Amino acid sequence: MLLHLDASARRAASFSRRLSSVYAETWRAAHPQAGYVYRDLAAQPVPHIGEAWTEVCDYILEHEITDISRYGEAARTSAQRQAWAVVEPLLAEVVAAEVILIGTPMYNYSIPSALKAWLDQITFPKMSLEGRSFVVTGARGGAYGPGTPREPYDHQERYLRDFFKGHFRVEDVTFIHAELVNARLDPALAHLRDRHEESLAAALKEAAR
Ligand SMILES: Cc1cc2nc3c(=O)[nH]c(=O)nc-3n(C[C@H](O)[C@H](O)[C@H](O)COP(=O)(O)O)c2cc1C
Repeated sequence: MLLHLDASARRAASFSRRLSSVYAETWRAAHPQAGYVYRDLAAQPVPHIGEAWTEVCDYILEHEITDISRYGEAARTSAQRQAWAVVEPLLAEVVAAEVILIGTPMYNYSIPSALKAWLDQITFPKMSLEGRSFVVTGARGGAYGPGTPREPYDHQERYLRDFFKGHFRVEDVTFIHAELVNARLDPALAHLRDRHEESLAAALKEAAR
């Protein structure tokens, strides 16, 4: 199954959405029987975790529950069961997925809070997602590739890569970025418009491949 998430506050004008939809179309054509779930984290945001969620999480840690199918045992009070009712369907989608595709902008050098809220909901201690792949289609206003002055500021790819590997133990992670999107708008970056168009064309080609 392909789990497809989008996190941009933009709709039609979003480049990360455009790239993720190209990827999803190609994937679905290649795996017509495999199943597909779509979730728009910007249009239907998942709530931030609350205190009851942290109690569920603490119980899982304290009782060394590593089997995801047993997490529900940790929800004992009514508030904890309410918190679990939010997590359960989100987590079921992740567990059922072979590929988790995330269309996400860079916001303030990092990821949108809509995506972080989802990640906080579905992540538990020592939780492995081994055997799955992540694909991230990203868009950013500037350029953060190797050798660029802003390379060390890329906490979008860096954060997600480190988190997927360090926590979920997933190394099969692909990033496809459209860069310099701000060259379309910012007169001071107009001279970089060609480089943006090249980056976008390469990203669309890669997503379709
Ligand atoms: C709230 C906000 C914060 C942003 N922060 C950054 C940033 O730190 N670095 C950057 O290069 N671009 C930044 N941008 C530009 C976006 O990354 C760019 O517009 C990108 O295309 C957004 O993805 P989307 O097209 O899928 O909406 C920001 C845009 C917004 C709306």
